[in-house]
Amino acid sequence: MIKKINNYRPTYDWSKKKASGLYKNSNFSFPVNTIHYLDFIKYSDFVPDKSVNCIIADPPFGISFTGKEALYNRKSSNVQSGYVEVDKYYDEFCKLWISKLSRMLNDKGSVWIFSGWSNLSSILNAISYTNLNLINHVIWKYQFGVYTKRKFVSSHYHLLFLTKSKDYFFNKIDNYPLDVWEINRTYSPNELKNGTKLPHSLVMKCIDYSSKPGDLIFDPFMGNGTTAVVSKSSYRNYLGFEINKSMDKIIDNNLNQVDVGSSYSPYYSRIHH
Ligand SMILES: C[S@@+](CC[C@H](N)C(=O)[O-])C[C@H]1O[C@@H](n2cnc3c(N)ncnc32)[C@H](O)[C@@H]1O
Repeated sequence: MIKKINNYRPTYDWSKKKASGLYKNSNFSFPVNTIHYLDFIKYSDFVPDKSVNCIIADPPFGISFTGKEALYNRKSSNVQSGYVEVDKYYDEFCKLWISKLSRMLNDKGSVWIFSGWSNLSSILNAISYTNLNLINHVIWKYQFGVYTKRKFVSSHYHLLFLTKSKDYFFNKIDNYPLDVWEINRTYSPNELKNGTKLPHSLVMKCIDYSSKPGDLIFDPFMGNGTTAVVSKSSYRNYLGFEINKSMDKIIDNNLNQVDVGSSYSPYYSRIHH
């Protein structure tokens, strides 16, 4: 029994040379490895039908008044402040962006949506209006949490794994892939970033299980460009949106720090090191 587990081989695997070849030979009829500094909800049509293999989406959880204005075409003076209003708005926001995903996904493609527990109900509600299948609800357990006095310290996040069809691509890398992932948050106090940077290894895990070298990974909310950086370093192509134009230098800088394929190694060698 133990011998069998030790000899486990991922469903798909590629040598570094093969992975590099798949990346070099990948071919798209539209610009890839680029980020549109635009509102994803307004410009999602830039992404052709069925062109994307995997979507990584880590949406904003707080919505600014400027955001409300842009989406509802109404003046901020007309927007009631207050928790209920924000809640109601967040539901609409989720319905809008989540409704754009399925069209751009190819038939074997998948979606990973990140969510804190407080906005999870809006995300699940929005998913129920789509044709996406919810395959797994993964818990990301991290080590930090804000100190509390009268409640538990929050130290987990939710990742929803969804697919367009039942016949989806899945590289079963581990013999026994669990739905609780313990991955440390990276802590770099001197780094210029927006506050919500995901750990590379977390995004890498989603990409590894749901795509092949040379595939296209899409992120509607690039933030610091984590999805782009991880895609580049693992022989995947990337494409995405970020509404905040001032993130461009940070993203470029993050991308310049990694070489194509620099973090790629065959999966078999990772599980048998
Ligand atoms: C939670 S952060 C993403 C962080 C990212 N995963 C990382 O590791 O750096 C969400 C990002 O979405 C951006 N954003 C918000 N609304 C957007 C929209 N409608 N279109 C594109 N980007 C948007 C925000 O500016 C923010 O940078």
